[in-house]
Amino acid sequence: MSRGKKLYEGKAKILYEGPEPGTLIQHFKDDATAFNAKKKATLEGKGVLNNRISEHVMGHLTRMGIPNHFIKRLNMREQLVHQVEIIPLEVVIRNVAAGSIAKRFGLDEGEELPRTIVEFYYKDDALDDPMVSEDHITAFGWASHGELDEMVAMSLRVNDICSGLFAAVGIRLIDFKLEFGRQFDEDQLTRVILADEISPDNCRLWDMATNEKMDKDRFRRDLGNVTEAYAEVARRLGIMKENQVLTDTNEAGK
Ligand code: TMP
Repeated sequence: MSRGKKLYEGKAKILYEGPEPGTLIQHFKDDATAFNAKKKATLEGKGVLNNRISEHVMGHLTRMGIPNHFIKRLNMREQLVHQVEIIPLEVVIRNVAAGSIAKRFGLDEGEELPRTIVEFYYKDDALDDPMVSEDHITAFGWASHGELDEMVAMSLRVNDICSGLFAAVGIRLIDFKLEFGRQFDEDQLTRVILADEISPDNCRLWDMATNEKMDKDRFRRDLGNVTEAYAEVARRLGIMKENQVLTDTNEAGK
């Protein structure tokens, strides 16, 4: 499959022009960053794992009727996706207190929230992705009221589906971050679809039995065994066999 020119390089992924108009190739790097890239490392094999885990989750969401950008995985590090215009928001869905909400409101990490909470952050590294309200979003024109309603409804459905998917393999979905984009049809009408990735880089995943962290907090908090934890998530989801190691050249993983 031909890969076009590089369109965008982010902290963990690169986007290239795809083979057909309206498609892109999403490449998963091994780079990890935290705290707005103040902390950086290369974690060998992370990109391969996230490519597979995101394929698995997005494929499941497609089957459950959630429109998203994933088309198919191309190889160990790349997937073909629909091109979208990214809405500059990070949508965070929280079931259990952890991370910034625990800090902000003085909650104990692991405390069940009274109900699922949806938050929005404006995607702007220079501003450190500030938390924003629905009023900021519509007043500054980052998304319309209709788009916001669609994003919230989809986020809650993704939460239900993913909570079930992970619970079935003994993992608790604590919180996660989604990004959405506008897909244009021939008449230039748009619809909002889920984009980006769903992987241990942007979810908090805790082992149900032990509360052990199986996500990027292992990197953020220097807990060690980061890729080992990601690999365990992949194993539990049935993506990898017990003793299998996923590498760039591993044909079994193709
Ligand atoms: P937070 O508790 O640090 O606000 O993070 C909430 C969730 O969002 C957590 O699952 C990690 C994810 N997240 C990202 O994917 N990217 C980010 O830049 C941040 C800050 C959080």
